[in-house]
Amino acid sequence: MDTKTVIIYASTDGQTLKICNALRAQLQQNNQKIDLFSIEDFNEKITNYDKIIIGASIRYGVHNKNIIDFINTHKEQLNNKKTAFFSVNLVARKPEKNTPSTNPYVVKFFKTIDWKPTIVEVFAGKLDYQKYPFFDKIMIQFIMWMTKGPTNSDAKIEYTNWEKVKAFGVQLSNL
Ligand SMILES: Cc1cc2nc3c(=O)[nH]c(=O)nc-3n(C[C@H](O)[C@H](O)[C@H](O)COP(=O)(O)O)c2cc1C
Repeated sequence: MDTKTVIIYASTDGQTLKICNALRAQLQQNNQKIDLFSIEDFNEKITNYDKIIIGASIRYGVHNKNIIDFINTHKEQLNNKKTAFFSVNLVARKPEKNTPSTNPYVVKFFKTIDWKPTIVEVFAGKLDYQKYPFFDKIMIQFIMWMTKGPTNSDAKIEYTNWEKVKAFGVQLSNL
Protein backbone atom coordinates (compact mmCIF):
# COMPACT_ATOMS: atom_id res chain seq x y z
CA MET A 1 0.00 0.00 0.00
CA ASP A 2 1.21 3.48 -0.82
CA THR A 3 1.56 5.46 2.38
CA LYS A 4 1.92 9.19 2.22
CA THR A 5 3.72 10.91 5.06
CA VAL A 6 4.28 14.54 5.88
CA ILE A 7 6.88 15.96 8.23
CA ILE A 8 6.05 19.45 9.51
CA TYR A 9 8.68 21.26 11.54
CA ALA A 10 9.68 24.45 13.30
CA SER A 11 13.42 25.07 13.45
CA THR A 12 15.25 28.31 14.14
CA ASP A 13 18.93 27.35 13.88
CA GLY A 14 18.46 24.26 11.74
CA GLN A 15 18.89 21.35 14.16
CA THR A 16 15.26 20.21 14.05
CA LEU A 17 15.42 20.49 10.27
CA LYS A 18 18.59 18.38 10.25
CA ILE A 19 16.77 15.68 12.23
CA CYS A 20 13.79 15.91 9.83
CA ASN A 21 16.10 15.48 6.84
CA ALA A 22 17.68 12.39 8.41
CA LEU A 23 14.22 10.92 9.09
CA ARG A 24 13.06 11.71 5.58
CA ALA A 25 16.09 10.05 4.03
CA GLN A 26 15.54 6.98 6.20
CA LEU A 27 11.84 6.70 5.35
CA GLN A 28 12.55 7.24 1.65
CA GLN A 29 14.89 4.25 1.73
CA ASN A 30 11.80 2.21 2.56
CA ASN A 31 10.10 3.59 -0.54
CA GLN A 32 7.71 5.71 1.45
CA LYS A 33 6.48 8.98 -0.02
CA ILE A 34 7.47 11.86 2.25
CA ASP A 35 6.76 15.56 2.08
CA LEU A 36 8.68 17.97 4.29
CA PHE A 37 7.42 21.45 5.15
CA SER A 38 8.25 24.10 7.66
CA ILE A 39 5.12 25.10 9.54
CA GLU A 40 5.15 28.48 7.79
CA ASP A 41 5.01 26.84 4.36
CA PHE A 42 2.48 24.12 5.08
CA ASN A 43 -0.73 24.80 3.16
CA GLU A 44 -1.76 21.25 2.27
CA LYS A 45 -4.74 19.36 3.60
CA ILE A 46 -3.66 16.97 6.33
CA THR A 47 -6.39 14.58 5.17
CA ASN A 48 -4.14 13.93 2.14
CA TYR A 49 -1.66 12.15 4.41
CA ASP A 50 -1.68 8.82 6.22
CA LYS A 51 1.06 9.71 8.68
CA ILE A 52 1.80 13.11 10.14
CA ILE A 53 5.07 13.80 11.94
CA ILE A 54 5.57 17.09 13.76
CA GLY A 55 8.92 18.27 15.13
CA ALA A 56 9.71 21.47 17.01
CA SER A 57 12.55 22.88 19.06
CA ILE A 58 12.32 24.63 22.40
CA ARG A 59 13.14 28.30 22.77
CA TYR A 60 12.87 29.84 26.18
CA GLY A 61 10.81 26.98 27.51
CA VAL A 62 8.23 26.69 24.75
CA HIS A 63 7.64 25.07 21.38
CA ASN A 64 6.97 27.26 18.34
CA LYS A 65 3.61 29.04 18.61
CA ASN A 66 2.60 28.24 15.02
CA ILE A 67 3.09 24.55 15.74
CA ILE A 68 0.90 24.79 18.86
CA ASP A 69 -1.80 26.69 16.93
CA PHE A 70 -1.64 24.14 14.12
CA ILE A 71 -2.12 21.24 16.52
CA ASN A 72 -4.98 22.97 18.33
CA THR A 73 -6.71 23.79 15.06
CA HIS A 74 -6.39 20.26 13.66
CA LYS A 75 -6.55 18.15 16.80
CA GLU A 76 -9.64 16.15 15.74
CA GLN A 77 -8.09 15.22 12.41
CA LEU A 78 -4.74 14.51 14.06
CA ASN A 79 -6.33 12.26 16.66
CA ASN A 80 -7.77 10.17 13.80
CA LYS A 81 -4.43 9.71 12.01
CA LYS A 82 -1.17 7.96 12.69
CA THR A 83 0.92 10.71 14.16
CA ALA A 84 4.26 11.37 15.80
CA PHE A 85 5.69 14.34 17.65
CA PHE A 86 9.25 15.09 18.64
CA SER A 87 10.78 17.90 20.63
CA VAL A 88 14.37 19.16 20.35
CA ASN A 89 15.97 20.92 23.30
CA LEU A 90 19.20 21.17 25.27
CA VAL A 91 17.85 19.89 28.56
CA ALA A 92 17.47 16.53 26.79
CA ARG A 93 21.28 16.23 26.72
CA LYS A 94 20.91 14.98 30.29
CA PRO A 95 20.22 11.24 30.39
CA GLU A 96 17.65 11.67 33.15
CA LYS A 97 15.71 14.19 31.02
CA ASN A 98 15.82 12.60 27.60
CA THR A 99 12.60 10.61 27.40
CA PRO A 100 9.05 11.88 26.74
CA SER A 101 8.10 11.12 30.33
CA THR A 102 11.16 12.77 31.89
CA ASN A 103 11.74 15.78 29.65
CA PRO A 104 10.03 18.71 31.39
CA TYR A 105 9.09 20.49 28.13
CA VAL A 106 7.45 17.41 26.64
CA VAL A 107 5.63 16.58 29.87
CA LYS A 108 4.32 20.15 30.14
CA PHE A 109 3.44 20.33 26.45
CA PHE A 110 1.10 17.35 26.63
CA LYS A 111 -0.57 18.73 29.74
CA THR A 112 -1.55 21.83 27.78
CA ILE A 113 -2.57 20.27 24.49
CA ASP A 114 -5.50 18.03 23.63
CA TRP A 115 -3.67 15.70 21.24
CA LYS A 116 -2.23 12.27 21.80
CA PRO A 117 0.26 11.36 19.06
CA THR A 118 0.81 7.68 18.37
CA ILE A 119 4.55 8.14 19.07
CA VAL A 120 6.38 10.84 21.02
CA GLU A 121 10.15 11.34 21.20
CA VAL A 122 12.63 13.92 22.42
CA PHE A 123 16.11 14.65 21.10
CA ALA A 124 18.96 16.71 22.45
CA GLY A 125 19.72 19.67 20.19
CA LYS A 126 22.79 21.68 19.35
CA LEU A 127 24.61 24.36 21.27
CA ASP A 128 26.38 26.94 19.13
CA TYR A 129 27.03 30.20 20.98
CA GLN A 130 28.63 31.89 17.98
CA LYS A 131 25.34 31.68 16.09
CA TYR A 132 23.33 33.44 18.77
CA PRO A 133 22.69 37.16 18.93
CA PHE A 134 24.14 38.88 22.00
CA PHE A 135 21.07 38.66 24.26
CA ASP A 136 20.33 35.03 23.40
CA LYS A 137 23.97 34.11 23.95
CA ILE A 138 23.97 35.59 27.45
CA MET A 139 20.68 33.87 28.26
CA ILE A 140 21.80 30.46 27.00
CA GLN A 141 25.11 30.82 28.84
CA PHE A 142 23.09 31.50 31.97
CA ILE A 143 20.81 28.50 31.38
CA MET A 144 23.86 26.29 30.73
CA TRP A 145 25.60 27.58 33.85
CA MET A 146 22.48 26.79 35.87
CA THR A 147 22.37 23.27 34.43
CA LYS A 148 26.14 22.68 34.65
CA GLY A 149 26.72 22.78 30.90
CA PRO A 150 29.49 24.49 28.90
CA THR A 151 29.57 28.30 29.09
CA ASN A 152 32.72 29.17 27.06
CA SER A 153 31.48 31.40 24.27
CA ASP A 154 33.04 29.39 21.45
CA ALA A 155 31.35 26.13 22.52
CA LYS A 156 29.74 24.35 19.60
CA ILE A 157 28.37 20.95 20.54
CA GLU A 158 25.88 18.74 18.75
CA TYR A 159 24.25 16.65 21.47
CA THR A 160 21.81 14.91 19.13
CA ASN A 161 22.04 11.13 19.41
CA TRP A 162 21.74 9.98 15.80
CA GLU A 163 21.23 6.35 16.80
CA LYS A 164 18.16 7.46 18.71
CA VAL A 165 16.97 9.39 15.63
CA LYS A 166 17.45 6.24 13.57
CA ALA A 167 15.47 4.15 16.06
CA PHE A 168 12.68 6.73 15.89
CA GLY A 169 12.81 6.47 12.08
CA VAL A 170 12.29 2.71 12.35
CA GLN A 171 9.26 3.30 14.58
CA LEU A 172 7.91 5.80 12.05
CA SER A 173 8.38 3.32 9.23
CA ASN A 174 6.38 0.74 11.12
CA LEU A 175 3.68 3.15 12.19
C1 LIG B 1 17.20 31.66 21.98
C2 LIG B 1 17.27 30.21 22.40
C3 LIG B 1 16.53 29.78 23.49
C4 LIG B 1 16.60 28.44 23.90
N1 LIG B 1 15.88 28.03 25.00
C5 LIG B 1 16.00 26.76 25.44
C6 LIG B 1 15.32 26.33 26.62
O1 LIG B 1 14.58 27.08 27.25
N2 LIG B 1 15.51 25.05 27.02
C7 LIG B 1 16.31 24.17 26.34
O2 LIG B 1 16.44 23.02 26.75
N3 LIG B 1 16.94 24.53 25.20
C8 LIG B 1 16.81 25.81 24.74
N4 LIG B 1 17.47 26.20 23.61
C9 LIG B 1 18.25 25.22 22.87
C10 LIG B 1 17.57 24.77 21.58
O3 LIG B 1 16.39 24.06 21.85
C11 LIG B 1 18.56 23.90 20.81
O4 LIG B 1 19.67 24.69 20.45
C12 LIG B 1 17.98 23.27 19.56
O5 LIG B 1 18.97 22.49 18.93
C13 LIG B 1 17.45 24.32 18.59
O6 LIG B 1 16.84 23.67 17.51
P1 LIG B 1 16.56 24.46 16.15
O7 LIG B 1 17.91 24.78 15.57
O8 LIG B 1 15.83 23.47 15.30
O9 LIG B 1 15.74 25.65 16.50
C14 LIG B 1 17.42 27.53 23.20
C15 LIG B 1 18.17 27.98 22.09
C16 LIG B 1 18.10 29.31 21.69
C17 LIG B 1 18.93 29.77 20.54
